[in-house]
Amino acid sequence: MRVGGTIRVPGDKSITHRALLIGALAPGESHVGGALTSLDARSSARVLRQLGADISPVRPGAVVTIRGRGRLRPAEARLHCGNSGTTTRLLLGLLAGHRFRATLTGDASLRRRPMRRVTGPLGQMGARFVEHAGDGLPLTIRGGALAPLRYAMPVSSAQIKSALILAGLAGSVEVDLLEPQGRSRDHTERLLRTFGYGVTEQDGWIRFRPTGRIGPFDLQVPGDPSSAAFLVGAATLAEGGELRIAGVGVNPTRTGFLRALERMGGRVTIEAGSEHFGEPVADLVVRPAELRATEVSAEEIPGLIDEIPLLAVLASRVSGTTVFRRVGELRVKESDRLELVAENLRTLGVASEAAGEDLIVQGGAMPPRGFVRTAGDHRLAMAFAVLGTVPGAAVRIDDLACAAVSFPRFPETLRAIRERART
Ligand code: S3P
Repeated sequence: MRVGGTIRVPGDKSITHRALLIGALAPGESHVGGALTSLDARSSARVLRQLGADISPVRPGAVVTIRGRGRLRPAEARLHCGNSGTTTRLLLGLLAGHRFRATLTGDASLRRRPMRRVTGPLGQMGARFVEHAGDGLPLTIRGGALAPLRYAMPVSSAQIKSALILAGLAGSVEVDLLEPQGRSRDHTERLLRTFGYGVTEQDGWIRFRPTGRIGPFDLQVPGDPSSAAFLVGAATLAEGGELRIAGVGVNPTRTGFLRALERMGGRVTIEAGSEHFGEPVADLVVRPAELRATEVSAEEIPGLIDEIPLLAVLASRVSGTTVFRRVGELRVKESDRLELVAENLRTLGVASEAAGEDLIVQGGAMPPRGFVRTAGDHRLAMAFAVLGTVPGAAVRIDDLACAAVSFPRFPETLRAIRERART
């Protein structure tokens, strides 16, 4: 297989969620260009409409217009967050600073995901919760006046961090957070800084100071590096050609996979850089490469958390053993990604196991053949679709359509980068 052409990937999922949430708080009309239009982004738009924001349809090619009212308003019905953990957790933070009750729920996968990691510290700030299903959804929150928070987070997670900072924003209180290991993505911090909020880092503590003011804004969302990663992977495994992925976010808290891939021998260059709303944006130029095994340390994990299925799949094509240290967080993603990556690799003939908190992949040259079970997890579907592009592969995937959670038209895009090499 050869690759070629210049393509763009859908808008960044994390930045799209944040732009919608902050736009719903802005008193006036904001515009978001290049927004992700996937199911997850629509979940954020849907629940924010229920909470009083006027948001235009989130459609491919359209600029999203958000008319916020400064504060959220009580919703009449439950807030259904679909498959989106980011929608749920970040919204809980915002709602903590609003004096009304709201009940959040989601699909079967989301209902199982842990929420105490945010409701615990939000409770310390003064929000009240009624759990309807233990440490999951549905969940009722009653927000109100909040107290400042100084909190050492048990895991490095941008969703926890952002929920707590957004509570500080909505409640106008100071928040100090310590992340235990590695830095998770910092889009919330960068966005709030552009509105004059004090968000600084000192001795590992992230300090939020409610010194700013949210106003209407015009933001262009960069391409999602986590979506680009799958195409980077496919181009790396290709037999020839060169692929340019234009306009991708290259925030250093998101490009850990590029650093790991470089160590493995990957050939990706970052070109044509610029900056918008505090976020660096650039083109990724990818050439095929012979890879070698590596070890991914615990400190690196927060910076490549969503790319582990893809990196594991790449590791299955090299000689030698690749180890991902302390990746227990993968157990509480859209599926138990740790078990399912290992199990599906084994099904395809690759020796792989989850050993405690570590993921171990023994690479080889045999063509992968077999049936992949995704449990509806978009990133598993896309990672194994990439593996299915290697010569001689026969990889069948139970549900490739679930890729639409974060990457609309992924199968077509994967096909296009190969077709363009032929023309
Ligand atoms: C996200 C943070 C990550 C990531 C998710 C999006 C965000 O979760 O897995 O896809 O937008 O804040 P954690 O930070 O909880 O690991």
